[in-house]
Amino acid sequence: MNFHSQVRRPAGVQGIMMARRMNANHRGMMEWALDHLDASSIGDVLDVGCGGGGPLSQLSRKVVKANFTALDLSQDMLRMTCKVNSSAFKNGRLRTVRGSVSSLPFHDGTFDTVFACETTYFWPDLLENFKECRRVLAKGGRMILVQEAWDSPKWRERNESWQKGFKMRFCSLEEYASLLREAGFAKVTTTAEEQQGWFVMVAETEGN
Ligand SMILES: C[S@@+](CC[C@H](N)C(=O)[O-])C[C@H]1O[C@@H](n2cnc3c(N)ncnc32)[C@H](O)[C@@H]1O
Repeated sequence: MNFHSQVRRPAGVQGIMMARRMNANHRGMMEWALDHLDASSIGDVLDVGCGGGGPLSQLSRKVVKANFTALDLSQDMLRMTCKVNSSAFKNGRLRTVRGSVSSLPFHDGTFDTVFACETTYFWPDLLENFKECRRVLAKGGRMILVQEAWDSPKWRERNESWQKGFKMRFCSLEEYASLLREAGFAKVTTTAEEQQGWFVMVAETEGN
């Protein structure tokens, strides 16, 4: 696998090295996102595209009583997530499941929170995938997106080079929000850090 595909689906030794870098690179954005998140009703989280488990470890320190299911296409990423979050894993607060966002192996309404950090760029069909995330959420649940990139004139040149290299896809903030509403979410709230290009988007199901 080449360097670029290690971002889409990290695997093997190179993938683990890439995931270590991602855990470090995403730390500042996650700290900022967590400062802008009301975490009071987060109890049962599905982390889709968990990668090396860094964002999950930051979230789990904020919501100390929550349980986590980490899902990724890559078995190596699931192993790394267990290592990085070893105490949560040993305490039974964390389980890992190999799978794709296209077809989540969970019953309807299983979680109160679906968390997705830096992964939607690679999802095959955003609308259908958001619907699938919505399906596994209980009434009153939420989907949380945290990303360091979206489509905007300011970032277009950089995005085009990422798009070519990593085959990433970007939407504008309005497009993400409108897809989430089309997928059945009742309310979408966006907070953006324009300087860094970070955003956190919370899409709530009915019943909140
Ligand atoms: C850029 S990494 C981000 C990892 C982690 N969330 C983070 O922020 O550090 C993207 C992750 O999404 C996963 N991924 C890509 N497509 C996916 C899909 N269709 N379903 C589930 N996970 C997927 C990849 O395997 C990879 O681990």
